[in-house]
Amino acid sequence: MPLIRLDSLPRHVAVIMDGNGRWAHQMQLPRTAGHREGSNAVRRTVRACRRLGINTLTLFAFSEQNWERPVYEVRALMDLFREFLIKERPEVLRTGIRVRSVGRVRRLPLYVRSLLQQLESETAQLDGMTLQLAISYGGQEEIADAARRLAEKAKNGEIDPASIDENSLAAELPSTEAGPVDLLIRTGGEYRISNFLLWGCAYAEFYFTRTLWPAFGEEELFRAISSFQKRNRRFGRVVTEERSQAPRLAQSSVTPAHV
Ligand code: FPP
Repeated sequence: MPLIRLDSLPRHVAVIMDGNGRWAHQMQLPRTAGHREGSNAVRRTVRACRRLGINTLTLFAFSEQNWERPVYEVRALMDLFREFLIKERPEVLRTGIRVRSVGRVRRLPLYVRSLLQQLESETAQLDGMTLQLAISYGGQEEIADAARRLAEKAKNGEIDPASIDENSLAAELPSTEAGPVDLLIRTGGEYRISNFLLWGCAYAEFYFTRTLWPAFGEEELFRAISSFQKRNRRFGRVVTEERSQAPRLAQSSVTPAHV
């Protein structure tokens, strides 16, 4: 298990959970069994991040484009979300996790939407880790929706179009409430962002792994964080080695057994 430093963790970790179908295929199981095993990996990952002290974890649970999948698969995923929201509720409340969602939640069937909204309002004041579920989510759609709202405001004379800048646009994007993504993890061996948090990933560090999502666990999470902690983040600026390295050298390492 790689060593990671607890005092320089990524604040916001986001995950593209890919490879459920291929995992199921390898196991000679239906695709839906891959999603079910994927929801166990979700539970493991949420627990591991919470124990570590990650501030925000965003999971790409369902994209706007996923609606195009076969009806039976969409239905199976909706049933899994429902089951997850019911089963995890006690632990979420006990451990102080704040659940929020981003995406066109109005497209979800009522039996998922009502549970999601209930858990969001029940946990809104909790100050443990934030678990942000991107569900019926698309990064381009989120930006287009925000642009439309700004255009409406400009049309109504509420804002001056000349005043629109990256800050006012960001303020219209629900996903920016969780802050910028520090570490984006993608499982399943593909090297793309697939319309995930396009705005929030502007300066994210990417970690790609061939591990299929149902096989993802604490060890791979630690590997991703360890890789993140070796990166030199410059945010477009010039950072001298001394300035970027100095705080790191003062930090101690702990093994997972201590967390
Ligand atoms: C991509 O794998 C995964 C999804 C489209 C769904 C993600 C959903 C889960 C992990 C299930 C539970 C989630 C929660 C939040 C309870 P894929 O089907 O595209 O895999 P493939 O590329 O191997 O076909």
